[in-house]
Amino acid sequence: MPTHAEACRPPDLDQPPAGGGHAPQGFADVWNAGIGGFLLELAGGSIYRARMDNLDHRQRPDSVNLSRDALQVPHVTADGREDNAAEWVAALLRTSGPARKALYMSADRVRRERMGDGVFLRGIVEFSNICGRDCHYCGIRSSNRDVRRYRMDADEILAVAKNMVGWKQTTIVLQSGEAASPEGDRRLGDLIRRIKAETDLSVTMSVGNRPRDVYSHWRDCGMDRYLLRFETSDPALFAQIHPACTLGERLECLHILRSLGVQVGSGFMIGVPGETPEVLAANILLCRNLDLDMIGIGPFIPHPCTPLGKTANAYAADPEMHFVALAALRLANPDAHIPATTAFDAVFTNPSGRDLALQRGANVFMPNSTPGQYRKDYMLYPDKPCVDENGALCAFCIVGRLEMLGRQIGTGPGHSRKRGDRGVPASPIAPAAAGSGRP
Ligand code: 5AD
Ligand code: FES
Repeated sequence: MPTHAEACRPPDLDQPPAGGGHAPQGFADVWNAGIGGFLLELAGGSIYRARMDNLDHRQRPDSVNLSRDALQVPHVTADGREDNAAEWVAALLRTSGPARKALYMSADRVRRERMGDGVFLRGIVEFSNICGRDCHYCGIRSSNRDVRRYRMDADEILAVAKNMVGWKQTTIVLQSGEAASPEGDRRLGDLIRRIKAETDLSVTMSVGNRPRDVYSHWRDCGMDRYLLRFETSDPALFAQIHPACTLGERLECLHILRSLGVQVGSGFMIGVPGETPEVLAANILLCRNLDLDMIGIGPFIPHPCTPLGKTANAYAADPEMHFVALAALRLANPDAHIPATTAFDAVFTNPSGRDLALQRGANVFMPNSTPGQYRKDYMLYPDKPCVDENGALCAFCIVGRLEMLGRQIGTGPGHSRKRGDRGVPASPIAPAAAGSGRP
C-alpha cells in the first residue's frame, strides 16, 4: 500500500508510454464538411499551405497550410455503406503537428453543425461509493480500504435534484459504484419515480451491469438514459483490468438497454496501459457501430491505490493524443452527445481540459452536483477537480466558462438526437445501421 504522500502524488504523465463496419449514413458528408476537404502535406519544411474551401473563413489558421494526399475520403458503396472507416479513423489518429489543429477545427465545426452551440448541463450526483467490483484502475474499487464508504439517502438526493432545476441542469445523472442487490435496486426504482414526479429532470442512471428485469423496472419507473462505458474494445485487455467481468457481458447490457428503448451512453478510457493506437481506433469504431446516443471518453489516470497505480497512461509521451481521440470520435459520431468529461480537467490545466474539449468536439458538460461533504470520498482518480467545491459553485462556474467560450447553456431535455426519448427515431438521420455492430 502506498504512503499517504504517494497516494496524493499527481499522475506521472512524463513517464514513457506503456505500450505501444458498417457505418451510419452521413459519414462522407461529415468528412467533406470536416477535415476530408483539406488533405495535408508538408510544404517547405515547417510551413504548410491550406486548401480553405471547406473551412469557415474566420477559423482559417495562419499556420496551417493544406494540400491533398495523406488522407482518403471514405469509400461509400451504392447502398450508402462505407468500407474504409477503420483506415479513416486510424489516419485521423496519426495526425501530428499543424494537422492536429485542422482536425480540432473540423471536430468543432461538425459539433456546431450537427449539435449546435448549446451545451447541455447534466448534473452528476455521485450518490454512493459502495462498490462490489475490483476494477484495476478505479480508486473506489472494493479492495481499497482507505475509502470511507457512503450512500446518500433519497431525501438528500431529491433536495439536490430540486436545486439542479435552478442551476439550469435539465438532467440528473445518478452515479455510484456497482452494488447490485434486490433491495437496493428497488430503492433506486422508487428514487427514479420520485424524481420524475417531483421535478422536470431527465434521469440518467450510471450504476453498472444489471440483468434485463432490473433495467426494465427502472425504465418503467421513468429512467430516460443509461451510461455504461465499455472501457476498452479489446476483450483481452478488458479481462485483464476487470476481474469477474467480460467485455461480452458489458456489451450485452448495452444491447438490453437499447432494446428497452432507453437512450444508451457508453465510451472508454483513453490510454489504458497496454492500449495501442489500433485499440484506440477500434474503441472509436465500436462507439460508431453501437450507434450510441451519448459517448463519454476521458484520459486514464493512474490511481496510486490500485494495481495500475504505477503504470503510466499509454500516451504519457504525447498527452495531446487525448484530444486527437476526442476530435476523431466526434467526426466518426457526428450526432452523438459527447461530454467534456471531468478527467480532462485532471490532466490539462490552463487552459482547462474541459474547456478545450468543448472546443474540440464536445457538446455536453457534466457539472458535479454531489454535495461537498462526499466529494473527497469519490476519487476515481487523483487530482479530480472540484473536490473542494459544492453544487452551487460548480453551477456558477460553468456559466462563466461557457461565456468565455461564446457558448450558451442548452435548453430542453437534451434527449438523443437520434431516437427521441423512447427509442422512436427522432429524425431521418437515424442510421441505416441500427442493429449492426451489436453483440
Ligand atoms: N482514470 C480515468 N477514468 C477512470 N474511471 C474510473 N477510474 C478511472 C481512472 N483511474 C472512469 C471509468 C468509469 C467512469 C465512471 O470513470 O471509465 O466508467
Ligand atoms: Fe466545479 Fe468549475 S465545474 S468548480
